[in-house]
Amino acid sequence: MAKHSLTRREFINLSAGALAAASTTTILLQPQKLFAAGRLALSDKIRFASIGTGVRGCEHLQASLSVPGIECVGVCDLYDSRHTAAREAVNNPSVAATRDYRSVLDRKDVDSVLIATMDHQHRRIFEDACAAGKDVYCEKPMSHTVEDGFSMVDAAHKHNRMVAVGSQRVSSVLYAKAKEIYDSGKLGEVFSINAYWDRNSPSGAWVYPIPPDASEKTIDWKEFLVGAPSVPFDPIRFFRWRCYKDYGEGLGGDLFVHLLSGIHFITSTNEPAQRAESSGGLFHFKDGREFPDLIETMYDYPKFRVTLRCNLNNNGGEFIAFYGTQGTLLIKDNTLSFKPEDTRPDPEGYSVFGWPKEMRDAYYKKWHDEHPEPPALGWKVDHTGESYVTPPGYSDTVDHQANFYAAVRSRKPVVENEVFGNHTSIGCHLANFSYFNKCIAVWDPASKKIVKG
Ligand SMILES: NC(=O)c1ccc[n+]([C@@H]2O[C@H](COP(=O)([O-])OP(=O)(O)OC[C@H]3O[C@@H](n4cnc5c(N)ncnc54)[C@H](O)[C@@H]3O)[C@@H](O)[C@H]2O)c1
Repeated sequence: MAKHSLTRREFINLSAGALAAASTTTILLQPQKLFAAGRLALSDKIRFASIGTGVRGCEHLQASLSVPGIECVGVCDLYDSRHTAAREAVNNPSVAATRDYRSVLDRKDVDSVLIATMDHQHRRIFEDACAAGKDVYCEKPMSHTVEDGFSMVDAAHKHNRMVAVGSQRVSSVLYAKAKEIYDSGKLGEVFSINAYWDRNSPSGAWVYPIPPDASEKTIDWKEFLVGAPSVPFDPIRFFRWRCYKDYGEGLGGDLFVHLLSGIHFITSTNEPAQRAESSGGLFHFKDGREFPDLIETMYDYPKFRVTLRCNLNNNGGEFIAFYGTQGTLLIKDNTLSFKPEDTRPDPEGYSVFGWPKEMRDAYYKKWHDEHPEPPALGWKVDHTGESYVTPPGYSDTVDHQANFYAAVRSRKPVVENEVFGNHTSIGCHLANFSYFNKCIAVWDPASKKIVKG
């Protein structure tokens, strides 16, 4: 690039950058007030049972202790040691525990259930729970297949149940602030959204240790296989189920769904992507798994494009960026920042350096005559950014649960209800369809199916 003096925009950007560095303060967001009037009436408790008390189920049970007006009255899991873990998590050694979820649904004192099982079990427990008159918090991704998702939506509607799907970012104070900024129009028009979630450890790649007591005596293997092909007992498949197509959806179902839920929430999108194209590969974790450890997907939505990546070979963390014509909104882990762009008119600062000096000078003179500049020292830079962070210990899971139980009381649906959850799950299925079939995956709303593009 030719040497030339700073254009006005470059000067303003430099000034704004310097000022932003000096003056942008990071604002600590406050958690929702769970006890606020109107959100929860604490007089009668909602009694819930957790079906599936593995890692996520236990996290939920622990989080539930911070949600007012609810009580865990039962826990259910196919693996006996998880009954103990669940009782410990909910701090109640005598809470009823069973392997049989149907007996939980038969209980009249259970108002709602929290489903945190492997994904291939979501549909049948969800539909049985709806038929039994229970409200349902179902972990993400809501569906294991596209067909499952629509059947679950029908069941919730048929039985008039309140449903929350478990991408808890949708209830996060950070995402609420991001939505507020997005809705304010400060970003201008947003055509490009990019997100990633990268982890770089065996645990991040689901290579979980197998508990020493795992056996066909302690695990109801037959029940685990319902909805999946019959195979001999294999603790690897039970504890590392995300690696296998029969039970999970790999990175699509584990992490894409969180990113898509955040994007749908912030942009007020409630429809599946129109098409998707994935690339990726299994580069490192060649342990018999059926899913890639790197997947990158481009999605088409009517008003913007989305690119997602999950990489299990780098610790990039969690990130979403909204690139607008007037600014950029970034979410990186627990921090949100907005940086406006200076879109005021500027003379051409590049290509005129291929012009003869006289012509270039005449161009600049004319431009400046038509755009009188403010006196340099009088410029007021009003383009500083904004930055927000969640407080240490903040739990969006607590907020997500609280929103669900508020809906159970008010009978007003949460944002991430069964329809929203179905649409983001379809996003995972589109990504995997494209990856495994090596084609563009097209969403056909008429047939409610994914077809080859
Ligand atoms: N929202 C989040 O941040 C988040 C985080 C982790 C997991 N998840 C989701 O939560 C769900 C569970 O994941 P996890 O990591 O806890 O898995 P996990 O393997 O640790 O636990 C799943 C448990 O479900 C039990 N189970 C399966 N079928 C059952 C049945 N019919 N009846 C009773 N129990 C049954 C199993 O015995 C197992 O203990 C998945 O859908 C996962 O995608 C969500």
